[in-house]
Parts: sequence; structure tokens; C-alpha cells
Amino acid sequence: MVDFDLTEEQLMIRGAARDFADKELATGAAQRDEREEFPHEQIKQMAELGFMGMMVPAEDGGAGLDTVSYVLALEEISRADASAGVIMSVNNSLVCWGLEKFGSPEQKQKYLKPLASGKLLGAFCLSEPEAGSDAVNQRTTAVRDGDYYVLNGTKNFITNGSNADILLVMATTDRAKGAKGVSAFIVEKKFKGVSVSKKEHKLGIRSSDTAQITFQDCRVPKENVVKEEGFGFKFAMMTLDGGRIGIASQAIGIARAALEASLKYVKERKAFDKLLYEFQAIQFKLADMHTNIEAAHLLTLNAALRKDRGERFTKEAAMAKLFASKVAVDCALEAIQIHGGYGYLKDFPVERYLRDAKITEIYEGTSEIQRLVIAREVLDQK
Ligand code: CAA
Repeated sequence: MVDFDLTEEQLMIRGAARDFADKELATGAAQRDEREEFPHEQIKQMAELGFMGMMVPAEDGGAGLDTVSYVLALEEISRADASAGVIMSVNNSLVCWGLEKFGSPEQKQKYLKPLASGKLLGAFCLSEPEAGSDAVNQRTTAVRDGDYYVLNGTKNFITNGSNADILLVMATTDRAKGAKGVSAFIVEKKFKGVSVSKKEHKLGIRSSDTAQITFQDCRVPKENVVKEEGFGFKFAMMTLDGGRIGIASQAIGIARAALEASLKYVKERKAFDKLLYEFQAIQFKLADMHTNIEAAHLLTLNAALRKDRGERFTKEAAMAKLFASKVAVDCALEAIQIHGGYGYLKDFPVERYLRDAKITEIYEGTSEIQRLVIAREVLDQK
């Protein structure tokens, strides 16, 4: 059974993240979204607060905190700015975590330290034009040539893609071996043969950076393989288990923002000589939103606690992401409905919450993939 009592430290981290988010993120979020402007300054400040490598031990450049603290902080950041949330989530969960867990001492010194302290930014390159949900089907190749591997291929939908300094790249070293023929590489963006081939323009999380990256005869030293050849797919899946906890937290942050905006609006807006909150139809919406947010939060904390205890958490992370992402979309839709015509305008923040919420049902495994992962475990097929 899960113990949901938060420690003094966890409460303090949540408070610090909330203060920062309210003061430094909330105000400019709509404008950055409109302009598709990456929050460089804010990410720098987040790094100073230790938010870019939260679960990495201090000796490796991080804040040395647990996953529960990370979940609490990411929720607060995303409540103010979901774009900043995904930038933080990818650097923490998809880049730093894997290097901390499987990186060699040299890789930790050279790459993890600056990534965890926020001096450098990381990206995770798994998806390809023809390998999204079917992640085993990697087309990017890595061919051994002496002390190097030569990478060729294209990676799609890469969060932090154009701004990242360090890329964790999955590529196939032996296609005949399927999942066991995929390897993970640490690639410096400045390596010859790496280019940002396209910057994407998106429906939501518009001030986060999503890019297509191309590798053309890119020579990567053999020391930059993570763990060993053939470990890349397992590595990606284990990494994504943690990533899904991050996206669940991001989704909850968005859902909370939608509820908070609605609570404010219903206490100000009148119809038929009554404030909106006096209508039971509105009260029921607010009650459902609150209940679902609480349930999503508890599912996410449960997954985080299991991870912190070193227990298996694949199913719990998938359940948290599946549920929280739906809650985010539902809450954003209800928030627009509560705001009526105003909810459809850019003058109010709720239309942004809907645009931001939708991606949480897609990236780091669509809701269909989460159901597949959960069903396999429920059916005891794993
Ligand atoms: N932990 C450890 N190992 C795992 C694992 C996990 N969670 N999941 C799978 N594996 C292992 C399996 O045990 C298996 O190894 P063995 O052969 O040794 O048993 C191997 O990996 C292959 O797994 P499967 O047989 O399950 O592979 P599959 O092709 O049937 O299905 C899948 C896998 C679950 C569908 C997977 O492809 C998947 O999760 N797809 C979605 C990909 C995804 O989430 N992409 C997100 C892109 S990243 C992103 O969005 C980041 C961003 O920028 C925001």
C-alpha cells in the first residue's frame, strides 16, 4: 500500500516550484506560446533551482532528490507553462535518468554533469518518420568503423531538438536482431553530420522546441555507446517508463490550471442574475474536474513512489499517463465550456490549456500504447 504522506523536503520543493512558476513563468506563458518563443531565460533560472537534473545525485551535478519531489515540481511548472514542463521533463526523465543509471563514469563526468546542472540541454531521439508507436522499427543505422560508429538517418518530433546540446540517439546496429539490434548513443549536436532539418510548428506547447534531426555520416566515438551494443531498445523503454510519470505530472499541471481558471471565472461571471458557481450544472463540472485531478495525482504519486522504492512501475506509469492525459483534455474542454464564448478566445488562457493538453495523449507513447502496455501486464504477458 502506498504512503502518501509527503516529507518536509518534498513539500518545500513543491512550494519553491510553485513560487517560481507563479512569479517567473505564468505571466509570459501566453506570449511565448503565441510567438513560439523558447523560454531560454526561464530554463536557466530553473537550472539554478536544480530543476533540470532533479533525480541525479549531487556528485553528478544534480539536485539529489526523489521522483516524488520531481512529480510535485513538474506539476507546478506545467500548471504555469506546459512548454517549460516538457522541456524540464525530457531533460530530467529521458536524458539525465538514463545516463545516471547506465552511463559509464566517463560519460557521467563529460555529459551527465553539465546536463543535470542545466549548463547543457538534452534531447531523446527515438521516433522516426516511420517508427512512432512501432519503436522497434528503427531505420537510423549505426555502422561500426574502427573506433567509431557512423550514424545515418532521420529522427522526428524531437523535443528540445534545435536547442539541445546533447542527443541520446537510438539506432540499429543489427537490423536482423530486431529490438536486440538497437543501440543507444550519446551524440554531441556539434558533431559533424548532425543537422536540424526542420523546426515544427505545433497546435500546443508552442514555446517548447520540436525538431527533426538528420544524421548524415555522423561519426560517434565508440565510448559514446550507452552500456553496450544491443541495449538501446530496452534502454529506451525503461527510460520512457520514467518519462511517462513526467508527462502524467505535466498533464495534471495543465488540468489544475484549467480548474483554477474556471474557479476564478465562476465567482466573477453572472448569468440570469446569479454568479455562475451558484448553478448546479457548473458545480457538478467543478466537482468532476477536482475529483479526476485528485485521482490522476494519486496514480502518478503511486508510480513515482514505486520507482523510488526500486519496484517495477511500467504498468503504474502507463496508467498514470493514460488517466492524467485524459483528465487534462477533459478539464480543458470543461473549462472552455464554463467560460462559454470567452473560453474560445485568446483573451483567456483556457484555449491554450486545451491545445497543450492534447499532446499528453500522444507523446511518450499514445494512449493506445499505454493501454497495450497495461493490458499486457494485466494479462500477465510480461
Ligand atoms: N522495460 C524494460 N524492458 C522492456 C520494456 C520496459 N518497459 N518494454 C519492453 N521491454 C523489452 C521487452 O522485454 C523485450 O525484451 P526481450 O526480448 O529481452 O524480452 C524488448 O524490450 C522488446 O519489447 P516488446 O516485445 O514488448 O516490443 P513490441 O514491439 O511488441 O512493443 C511497445 C513495444 C510497447 C509497443 C513500444 O514500442 C512502445 O512503447 N512504443 C511507443 C514508443 C514511444 O513511447 N515513443 C515515444 C517517443 S519519445 C517522446 O515522445 C519524447 C519526447 O520528445 C516528448
